[in-house]
Amino acid sequence: MDLHILDHRLRVTSISKNGLVNYTHPLIKLIFLRNRTRCKFFSLTETPENYTVVLDEEGFKELPPSSEHLQVEGSIWRPLNVASNGNASSSSQAVGVTKIAKSVIAPLAQQHVSVFMLSTYQTDFILVREKDLSVVVSTLEEEFNIFKEVEGEYMSVGCKDFTNGLQKNGKEAIQPTVHPVLIPQNQFCVMSLDPDTLPSIATTLIDVLFYSNSPKEDSESSAGQDLDCIKFFSFSLIDGYVSLVMDTEAQRRFPADLLFTSSSGELWRMVRIGGQPLGFDECGIVAQISQPLADGDISAYYISTFSFDHALVSPKKVPCHSCCKGN
Ligand code: ARG
Repeated sequence: MDLHILDHRLRVTSISKNGLVNYTHPLIKLIFLRNRTRCKFFSLTETPENYTVVLDEEGFKELPPSSEHLQVEGSIWRPLNVASNGNASSSSQAVGVTKIAKSVIAPLAQQHVSVFMLSTYQTDFILVREKDLSVVVSTLEEEFNIFKEVEGEYMSVGCKDFTNGLQKNGKEAIQPTVHPVLIPQNQFCVMSLDPDTLPSIATTLIDVLFYSNSPKEDSESSAGQDLDCIKFFSFSLIDGYVSLVMDTEAQRRFPADLLFTSSSGELWRMVRIGGQPLGFDECGIVAQISQPLADGDISAYYISTFSFDHALVSPKKVPCHSCCKGN
């Protein structure tokens, strides 16, 4: 199997809910005016706490310089993804993070590499800190042919290609922290759309992204404010591909003929991981969640945000043990 280290150098940031008004101008440019920016990797996720924005350095330059409303994680992150080169070696039908749990997520956690996950409709990006790349490559090079993207071309790499052969962290295994989880009632879909049709959904997208907290004129939906539901909406535009994750309530607001999802059209249940903000240094959180899902061959998407992690699990077999205390 091939593992790609993509060319993007990413920043992980968050914009406070109150501060959003100061950022809508650049965000609209990054979402809708692709030809006016050189940003190639952009992702925006609204959660109850804040807006998480993950974007490349070109995109980052578009944001007004630091203010009290913008938090920026200090590192440069690099996205990896596993290229599915046809010959599916496993018998598993599972999709998403489940597919890479054993081959990528678990070995990185064992080497104490902190990851930041971003599943999209198209692929699952595993973000790692740029300074950890040599450890990442030495950890994964047994299992994968590793290629580094350089100006659109893929070049084969080994760990010697990164800062003077820094070796694996030989630390002993530590007991992972068990974080509390929350399982909201809403159901989610993971969708895509032809980027050329973005203008046709612009008003809805602007409304959902930037005005979701404004009172609506027709306050017919009492279920909208359901306390058991969580606000979660994610939009990404990465290398020209659009991916959207939204709950069924938001989905109803979009024209049904433009968005598409996988043929099976599944809906997903969310498991939100973390009671206190998770930070960026702890490793093994994604591993802890994805490992049992892989054992059960249960498909899952996984989206990390600035504060918490979110697994979207196929409801066909939601594991129901200790994690369900919130329900
Ligand atoms: N670093 C964690 C891990 O390696 C996942 C990210 C958690 N942090 C966050 N801010 N979402 O498993």
